[in-house]
Amino acid sequence: MIHLEGATLIQLSNEIENDVIGPSTKDYEKVFYNPAMSGSRTRSVMLMKHIIESGYLGKSEIYAIDGLAASGLRARRWLNELPKKLVNRLRVTICDMNENSIERAMENHQKFPPKNGGGVLNGKQGDLRSAILDQGWHWVDVDPFGSPMPFLDTAIQSLAKKAILEISATDTAALAGSSKTALMRRYGARINPDNLAHDSGLRVLMACVARTAAKHDRFAEPILSVWDSHHLRLSVKVRKSVEKANQLEKMLGWRIAGPNKKEVMDSMQEGLTPTSSTESLPMHCFLPLSYPVNREDRRVSGPLWIGPLGDSKVMASFTEEEVTSMCTTEYEPKNPMNWGERDFELERRKIVRSIKNIRNESEVVTGEFLILTDDLASWRNVGSPPSPVKMIEIINEKGFKAGLSHYPKPSFRTNAPWDVIVESLDLTQPPM
Ligand SMILES: C[S@@+](CC[C@H](N)C(=O)[O-])C[C@H]1O[C@@H](n2cnc3c(N)ncnc32)[C@H](O)[C@@H]1O
Repeated sequence: MIHLEGATLIQLSNEIENDVIGPSTKDYEKVFYNPAMSGSRTRSVMLMKHIIESGYLGKSEIYAIDGLAASGLRARRWLNELPKKLVNRLRVTICDMNENSIERAMENHQKFPPKNGGGVLNGKQGDLRSAILDQGWHWVDVDPFGSPMPFLDTAIQSLAKKAILEISATDTAALAGSSKTALMRRYGARINPDNLAHDSGLRVLMACVARTAAKHDRFAEPILSVWDSHHLRLSVKVRKSVEKANQLEKMLGWRIAGPNKKEVMDSMQEGLTPTSSTESLPMHCFLPLSYPVNREDRRVSGPLWIGPLGDSKVMASFTEEEVTSMCTTEYEPKNPMNWGERDFELERRKIVRSIKNIRNESEVVTGEFLILTDDLASWRNVGSPPSPVKMIEIINEKGFKAGLSHYPKPSFRTNAPWDVIVESLDLTQPPM
């Protein structure tokens, strides 16, 4: 069977029954391909374009490794969908423990070579934890079954002085706070399993990445973070800098659900909550790592990353025009998948959906509040949840930033003080 993902073709062999397998299959003999992760691969192509063009990775060759490559489609999409002048600089390696994965990815690469030519693809069969240490890498992708923690230390050690690390995690029960023991064992943290748990999970994972980086005299900062149905993904800039690594503690702290007045005032004092009257208290606030919290208190999540979870320039580059021109294909009546016009249109929509709201959120990624509108309505005991778009409009009119967020529930992010959020909510409610 030939399949199209983004603008790249892949032959999914039917020699072995069940070769096209879903997330539950972990049999190392079989080659893993999960169409549900297509969005993650699309964002990876978009991110790579922006980062290379920004000059962050210098001007010469870029050594990238798709560390747990499975079908190798991520690496093949980089080589096929990026503009030729960027691809020419790419020296890409796919690594997997499963030799069938490497063999089949290389066959696909031969059969459907990158449309613009250029770039290099090498295969490496082996355990990523040792294979990756052979050389320094500018771009490392770690996309495991379950938790990325077993790979984190070696992945960080293998990075060039300036590099990008992209990691996924599918152990969502742990990172959303419902498997408490697994969360504590793997990530050394607690998470309140409320509606913000997905954001807290990303922040706990980011804290682990940043701590590991600091152990190796590096500083890690998130440039994109996404919770997408069954997985989380963090894309991080990692730079060698002892000075910045020494300041890591400032970026770590706690999230308190339903904070009391003292906690809110202390959070404001630390610059972690915008200054506001405390007549009504916010739903959540951050506190610094040095703050004395009771870790048995169910309101407390952390330790977690309390800085922004993305970079506004990077996120602003996720435009519909760009993703359509790089990662989609025009309908052709004669195509190897035997797809009709509608199939092409559905694939195009799926690709565009995978970047939805990332650009919108770019201007407010530093906003202190992520507000879920359903939660806001029940917190303030008002009848109906406001529309996030309406809230944004009103908050903008009041002179503060607000934007829709790329979060699995209706929500917006803002830098407005809490009393402005409450006033704006009241304006959305019908007169009594
Ligand atoms: C979730 S899949 C990767 C999916 C892939 N990145 C994609 O975008 O489709 C995980 C892969 O890791 C491989 N794997 C598991 N443990 C490994 C290890 N220690 N070293 C190298 N590969 C490993 C598995 O064979 C499997 O192909």
